[in-house]
Amino acid sequence: MNFLGKLIGLRVRQLTATTWILIALPLSHNFPVLATKTEADALLRSGWWLDSDMSLDVYCMWFGVSCDDSISIIEINIPERGPHDYMVTRNLNNMNFSLLLNLAFLRLPNNHLTDIIPLQICALQKLRHLNLSHNYLTSELPLCLQNLTMLEVIDIHDNQINSHIPPKLGNLKRLIYLDLSFNLLNGMIPMTLAKLKNLALYLQMNFFNGSIPSEVGELKSLTHLDLSLNNLCEKIPHELGSLVMLTYLNLQNNSLQGTVSEFKMVLKLNYINLAYNHLIGNIPNNLAHVRYGFFLGNKGLKEIELSKRMSRELMTVA
Ligand SMILES: *[C@@H]1O[C@H](CO)[C@@H](O)[C@H](O)[C@H]1NC(C)=O
Ligand SMILES: *[C@@H]1O[C@H](CO)[C@@H](O)[C@H](O)[C@H]1NC(C)=O
Ligand SMILES: *[C@@H]1O[C@H](CO)[C@@H](O)[C@H](O)[C@H]1NC(C)=O
Ligand SMILES: *[C@@H]1O[C@H](CO)[C@@H](O)[C@H](O)[C@H]1NC(C)=O
Ligand SMILES: *[C@@H]1O[C@H](CO)[C@@H](O)[C@H](O)[C@H]1NC(C)=O
Repeated sequence: MNFLGKLIGLRVRQLTATTWILIALPLSHNFPVLATKTEADALLRSGWWLDSDMSLDVYCMWFGVSCDDSISIIEINIPERGPHDYMVTRNLNNMNFSLLLNLAFLRLPNNHLTDIIPLQICALQKLRHLNLSHNYLTSELPLCLQNLTMLEVIDIHDNQINSHIPPKLGNLKRLIYLDLSFNLLNGMIPMTLAKLKNLALYLQMNFFNGSIPSEVGELKSLTHLDLSLNNLCEKIPHELGSLVMLTYLNLQNNSLQGTVSEFKMVLKLNYINLAYNHLIGNIPNNLAHVRYGFFLGNKGLKEIELSKRMSRELMTVA
């Protein structure tokens, strides 16, 4: 590695960024005359930063921005719109993502983002980690997300997304974490997600309907499954019983039918919540080791003798 060359490269980049700032600042977040060529342009034009955040020479040192060795942006991490930047209106549509070819981490939770998730976000071919949680994003989860094959983490929980889950998200082989909870998502839970053997899946508080796909039983390393507060119906697939690592299962407030005994339970389970469904029959004895069991609000479910470790109050059948 030629250190001097790198240093000169750095100097040139610094100069470029500084020059852009000098040209751009008087235009106050509206830069119609600038050419769109560099990563610095994309940042400048986005309007995502306050002038005070941009006061340092290199854009790599702007608040929340990180670069790699070749001074290309790999991360934008702005954890929230704080008191100091409440005047900034960040909008995903104002960032030219096609200029950020090396961006791997995009974290903008709690940033008061409104509007849609633009298709242009799919220009981020190297994106590994996407966190847009706790915003006001609406409309669809872009289908093209299924093309971002480097994605490992998608966290868009607590927004107002109201589409289906793109079925081919199941093709994202590296995906290990998908949190779409607390949205307005609907349709069926795509069974293709079961192809992602190491996935942690959070889909609670949406409008998913149809049955729980039996393929969920293939997610062998799943420790935590939360499908509560949806409109899921039909039987609980007995395949859930083969989730040997499962410690937490929450299916409360759906319209699930049939008996609980139809799925043999798993050993590590510590929490099970089946409250407010339409389940019938007995609570099976093999749930006796479960520490927290919630079965309220299933009119057809009969209380039986369970381990004393399970709180009487929690297991009461309404
Ligand atoms: C984004 O950058 C690309 C590449 O320079 C350019 O072709 C395109 O017009 C830009 N888009 C916007 C909205 O500025
Ligand atoms: C996304 O950001 C929120 C808010 O900071 C945080 O609670 C959550 O854990 C993050 N998600 C992931 C997968 O790191
Ligand atoms: C995914 O990428 C392929 C090839 O680049 C393209 O033809 C296709 O339209 C993309 N799919 C979506 C849903 O964007
Ligand atoms: C699920 O909801 C959609 C509307 O969001 C409806 O068209 C579909 O028939 C429902 N499916 C089931 C199985 O209830
Ligand atoms: C579940 O449904 C019951 C009965 O409709 C309701 O009282 C309860 O608040 C719901 N639970 C949650 C967490 O919304």
